[in-house]
Amino acid sequence: MHDIAIYPGTFDPITNGHVDIIERGSKMFGKIVVAVAEQTAKSCLFTADERVEMAKIATKHIKNVIIEKFTGLAVEYVKNQNGAVMLRGLRAVSDFEYELQMALANRELCENVETVFLTPKSKYLYLSSSLVKQIISAGGDVQQWAHEKVIEKLKTKLAFDK
Ligand code: COA
Repeated sequence: MHDIAIYPGTFDPITNGHVDIIERGSKMFGKIVVAVAEQTAKSCLFTADERVEMAKIATKHIKNVIIEKFTGLAVEYVKNQNGAVMLRGLRAVSDFEYELQMALANRELCENVETVFLTPKSKYLYLSSSLVKQIISAGGDVQQWAHEKVIEKLKTKLAFDK
């Protein structure tokens, strides 16, 4: 039996689509660990500590969630938390090929780590962190897609970046 699910990602920043997956997972597993990747192939707008802080704020209402940073391969991190599964969100069909490739590669790397996919509400199917950043940069309203504190931090960061 699996009691812990680890949800890895960059969360740059966390959006309501991520929170939707975490809420669903929190009803299925005893504990959800949101694992914030410290080093990623992408260049992040926020530091790892800032991404962790925003994830904590956005998931404060969910009791069995903890937020942690990790380095290295996500699958290794999951393997080291004995008996945990990897939780991933599947949004549109376009996610499928990438997610399948990652799940199969991860299985080759760590045979015992299973990947579990959950699908968010349809209103979040097209959402991504980049989309939220782009809309805010252009002065648009993103309140239906991200926590108000996350939006505040994005506005400050993007104004500072100009
Ligand atoms: N709601 C809203 N947006 C979502 C979402 C959801 N439910 N699920 C994913 N997204 C968004 C993410 O915000 C991200 O947006 P962005 O590209 O604009 O930043 C995009 O969809 C892709 O998400 P995801 O596939 O989770 O990518 P990621 O870059 O956040 O994380 C990992 C990918 C897990 C591979 C990476 O962060 C990681 O763990 N790196 C460590 C190294 C590693 O293990 N690599 C894998 C080798 S097989």
